[in-house]
Amino acid sequence: MNNKKIFFDRERFARALIKWFLEEKRDLPWRENQDPYRVWVSEVMLQQTKVNTTIPYYHNFMEKFPSLSHLAQAEEDEVLKAWEGLGYYSRVRNLHSAVKEVEEKYGGEVPNTKKELASLKGVGPYTTGAILSIAYGIPEPAVDGNVMRVMSRVLSIWEDIAKSKTRKIFEEAVADIIPAEDPSSFNQGLMELGALICTPTSPSCMLCPVMEYCQSFHEGTQRELPVKSKKAPPKYQPMIAGVFTVGDGKYFIHKRSKEGLLANLWEFPNMEFQEKAGSKEEQLEKYMKNIYGADVEIGGYLTNIQHVFTHLIWDIDVFIGTAKGDSTNLIPVTTEEMDKFAFPVSHQKIIRALADHSSKE
Ligand code: ADE
Repeated sequence: MNNKKIFFDRERFARALIKWFLEEKRDLPWRENQDPYRVWVSEVMLQQTKVNTTIPYYHNFMEKFPSLSHLAQAEEDEVLKAWEGLGYYSRVRNLHSAVKEVEEKYGGEVPNTKKELASLKGVGPYTTGAILSIAYGIPEPAVDGNVMRVMSRVLSIWEDIAKSKTRKIFEEAVADIIPAEDPSSFNQGLMELGALICTPTSPSCMLCPVMEYCQSFHEGTQRELPVKSKKAPPKYQPMIAGVFTVGDGKYFIHKRSKEGLLANLWEFPNMEFQEKAGSKEEQLEKYMKNIYGADVEIGGYLTNIQHVFTHLIWDIDVFIGTAKGDSTNLIPVTTEEMDKFAFPVSHQKIIRALADHSSKE
């Protein structure tokens, strides 16, 4: 192994990266212009979502909320609906509150200072750097996991990128290199390189525009970097859910709490299954009575749904049944009306299972 430090020429590195980006960049909808609002939305969507998944959601979102004012004035339920299926819904709830703050406090102009941006809800150092560099041409690092992967290789940095305090090390490294001229293409070039060339398991070093500046390529350690410790495995959680008809083709749904997992999304009534507390049917009937004051009768089994979150696995047995009379906090809706509510993916699957079940009856 050759582990002698190569001389790192920042300016030539930046120039080679920017040149490559300008020639090879993908034609993506958020690259049509530098509207700060559009850049902001795209960066929030891209934080936990892959580019290809993001594209149709981005088009839809921009059609529904073409400007910051449109988004600021929208109802939260409508905004959640546009995010339905993307996951990590706190992203969009924070975006919505931040946009309202920009509308009120800054007359709808997205601020162009680090201090003002970073004070907005959900806007961390990454989003701040992305908006400043891409929308305003200000040389500020925008370091996410992909950028850490690229720079860990380029500079041979062996810090654990799973640790939150590591990001600062990379921000300082990027701040040292980012040029005053075209910081937008520089930051996007790092992201693009991470997506297309400097990929996690088999980087295409032979196609890399900055191969000659890359310390880990020089050492042959590109497959060992970045160092990333494993997260704890998700917790397994057996659940019970009920699809209860109240007549007229209507079923009970309810809105989740405004805090915590999947906050403010809609769902079928459900609970955590308790070992040693009776059968699933018994537990669900009692729960419906105690929590919602609903008298229900279970008629059968509908389906099983598995959903994997970052920290949690839901294994949901879904029952179908009937409810007598009204209930507190549950609202009766038809399957057509369900279209207007934002459901988590797991509960969208229940809606589909219900539709299959009804079409067979
Ligand atoms: N990932 C994060 N931000 C991105 C961007 N602006 N373009 C492509 N991929 C990205």
